[in-house]
Amino acid sequence: MHELIDHPCVQHKLAIIRDVDTGHKRFRELSKEITKFVCYEALKNIKVKKVTVQTPLAEAACKKIDTDLVVVPVLRAGVGMLEGILELVPTARVGFVGLYRDELSKEPVTYYQRLPKQADGGTCIIVDPMLATGGSTAAAIDILKEAGAGKIVVICIVTCPEGLALIEGAHPDVPVYAAAIDDHLDDRKYIIPGLGDAGDRLFGTSH
Ligand code: PRP
Ligand code: URA
Repeated sequence: MHELIDHPCVQHKLAIIRDVDTGHKRFRELSKEITKFVCYEALKNIKVKKVTVQTPLAEAACKKIDTDLVVVPVLRAGVGMLEGILELVPTARVGFVGLYRDELSKEPVTYYQRLPKQADGGTCIIVDPMLATGGSTAAAIDILKEAGAGKIVVICIVTCPEGLALIEGAHPDVPVYAAAIDDHLDDRKYIIPGLGDAGDRLFGTSH
């Protein structure tokens, strides 16, 4: 299952973050801002419990989130999305998965993993701006399933049909939320038109 967040406020920001002339400071701000909107939609079905709250005037029937939330940025570029999601769910815990794509094979290589114990049974939200071949996201999902995650949700900024097909084939239980579903991958497995190299643009490491 995947959902495109086709809201004008998101699409406006996407137009700016895609622009080759957008520098790393603005790229970082936009990663955070877009993530907040996409996350808002992605969390619409999480588990809630009914609670009664005493207002100054009467009792009110309310709802509160009823699951351990664990945000898992995929290093490096997922870090640019962390702040946005934590503004929405400030009590969420944070785990990290370090992955990079091997330059030749384009296969994901795992180099770091640190998850809170609440990942076991909790709702884990993977954040990575680019879901290209889907290999990195699939590897992160495998790690979280092994850790016992109760539910997994993926939030990205840009994806493409090839990446969605891989995730939906290998992990049909994991929904993907994206601000854009682009056209295709090029022969270097970059998303076209995409954002370019998200990690480099976020951290200013391209030149
Ligand atoms: C990027 C991106 C994803 C991955 C997507 O990371 O942030 O993790 O590529 O590609 P895939 O869907 O084909 O696996 P990259 O490997 O460039 O590492 P970095 O974030 O450290 O720059
Ligand atoms: N990683 C990126 O940063 N961008 C892409 O288009 C594909 C993988």
